[in-house]
Order: sequence, then C-alpha cells, then structure tokens
Amino acid sequence: MILSPAVLFEGGSGRTNFMSENTSASEWANARGEKWLAQLAGMEAMINPVNEPLIRALHLDAACRIVDIGCGGGGATLDILRQSPAGTVVHGVDISPALIEFARTRIQSDRGAIAFDMADMATAPLPNEPYDRLASRFGIMFFDDPRAAFGNLFRWLGPSGRFAFAVWGRLSENHWMAATREVVAEVMDLPSLDSEAPGPFRYCDPEKLIRLLASVGFSEIQVDDWRGALPIGGGLKADEAAAFALSAVSSLGELLAEAGGELVTHARQSLTERFSRNLRDGVVQMDACVHIFTGVRLE
Ligand SMILES: C[S@@+](CC[C@H](N)C(=O)[O-])C[C@H]1O[C@@H](n2cnc3c(N)ncnc32)[C@H](O)[C@@H]1O
Repeated sequence: MILSPAVLFEGGSGRTNFMSENTSASEWANARGEKWLAQLAGMEAMINPVNEPLIRALHLDAACRIVDIGCGGGGATLDILRQSPAGTVVHGVDISPALIEFARTRIQSDRGAIAFDMADMATAPLPNEPYDRLASRFGIMFFDDPRAAFGNLFRWLGPSGRFAFAVWGRLSENHWMAATREVVAEVMDLPSLDSEAPGPFRYCDPEKLIRLLASVGFSEIQVDDWRGALPIGGGLKADEAAAFALSAVSSLGELLAEAGGELVTHARQSLTERFSRNLRDGVVQMDACVHIFTGVRLE
C-alpha cells in the first residue's frame, strides 16, 4: 500500500522537509554515539567483513604502535590487536564518552597491549610517542574541519608510518542504505545528500579524499575497493533487518518517527518487501562497496 503524501501530512503541500541526515563530530560526542552504542552488536556484526581488507592494508609485518581513529565501541580495535604480531600496542580513540566507556569493558587479558581514550581526533594533542599505523573503520568522515583534522592525524603518525582508512563508497553501490533511503523518500521529502558535510558518503568520491590527504603531507596514496555482501543487522530476517536499517541509517528513523506512526509502518513494510528479495541462507545480505585508502608519511 502506498499512502499518498497528502494523506500522510497535514496541511500545505502535503510533503514536509526535515532536518539533515548528516552527522557532525559534536553529535557523535552525544546522542549519535549513544545510539551507535545501543545498536552496537548488530552494527559491528554487519560491518565486520570490512576488517579483513582494512587490516591487510595496514601491512602488520612486525610489532608496532597502532591508533584506531573513531574506534566506536572498539570491535575493530580488538580485531586489529588479535591479528597483529605479538608485542603490538593498539589504542582506540573516540569522541563519544559512552562508546569509550563501553569499549573499556571489553579489555580482558590484553591490558598493556590495548587502551581506549576519549578525544576529538581533529584537535587531540600529539601523543608522547608517534604511532606506526593509523587505522579507521568508518571513523574519519565526520570532522568539522577536515583539512585541519587530517593535518593533525598526519602529525600523529611517525616518519615511515602507514595509514589505512575504510569509508563507504557511493550510496548506489551500498544497497541496504540506498533501499532504506528510498522507502523513506516514498513518504517524505528528503534533502539530497550533502557530500560536503560530515556524513557517511562524504568521501564516496575517492578523488576528494585523495586530494585532501595529499594536501596535508601523506604520500603514496592509493584506494582499493572492497565489494561484498553485508549481513544487515548482523544476520536478520527481512522484517527485523528492515526495523534495524530504518533505525540505523543516519537519522531516518528519527525523521520517520517525528512524522508519525503510519509512516513508520509503511516504510517498514516497504523495506521488508525489498529486503525479502535479498535473503541468503535465511538472512538479509546486501551488496556493499567500501573504499580502503592507504598511504604513508615519508618523513
Ligand atoms: C560510524 S562510527 C564507526 C565506529 C567504529 N570505527 C566501528 O567501525 O565500529 C564513527 C565513529 O567515529 C567517531 N568520531 C566522529 N568524529 C570523531 C572525532 N572528531 N574524533 C574522534 N572520534 C570521532 C564517532 O564517535 C563514532 O564512534
């Protein structure tokens, strides 16, 4: 059932514009970080397939010091440590106090080899000892002043150090987010994605980030695409995956909830129908494209 916008909205044109889908660093420090924490198990299980290409791109051939930028709840940070040579030290840094507090609870027998700290990596003062590797899984797309922030990251890396950053490719190649956005756009006007603003698709055009990284001093910058299927919400049936995606993708869930229960029901049904065409082994799995950027600090 497609409800006409005139039925769904009161008054005027019948269609309404809502706040932006973009997420800034300060939002991550507060509500957005808490929301990521609430969805952490499903989120991490969904994006864990990105760890293998990201960690491979770090070239961890000897014990070293690694910082995971925008580490969230620490799942990737722990995986990096597990896959590093003995003697490696891994630090996760995030702007969200809630996520750092949770990440710390996951440290078990690795005390000394892993730590989590709260900081805004755009402006965080230089560490006592520089790092040999900078890593990030989807944590570098939200800086308010990207040039200043990447300049700061450059200084956190020691000479001959290497970075690997994972960022989302184009919306059209990330089918779960595209489908989620489409079902919401069926019932309300969404502003077009602003790729200049902080948000998941900010560097979907790789050239933009390549130029930025080069401008602050990084060398030998390369981008390789990882393409694969992600289990939505970590491996859910169509209706559960639809509920997960509507609440997880940017602030679409909040926009829908604000607009009213009928819209939520409609969007959820529509997304369930789309997701049910993407069942593999009984759970929703959808194609994704992630850019893995690598490069070095020569001196
Ligand atoms: C999409 S989440 C990814 C979390 C984690 N890397 C993962 O893959 O599970 C983005 C993370 O970047 C963090 N973040 C955003 N801006 C930041 C900043 N300026 N400094 C440090 N962390 C930041 C957020 O708090 C959030 O945890």
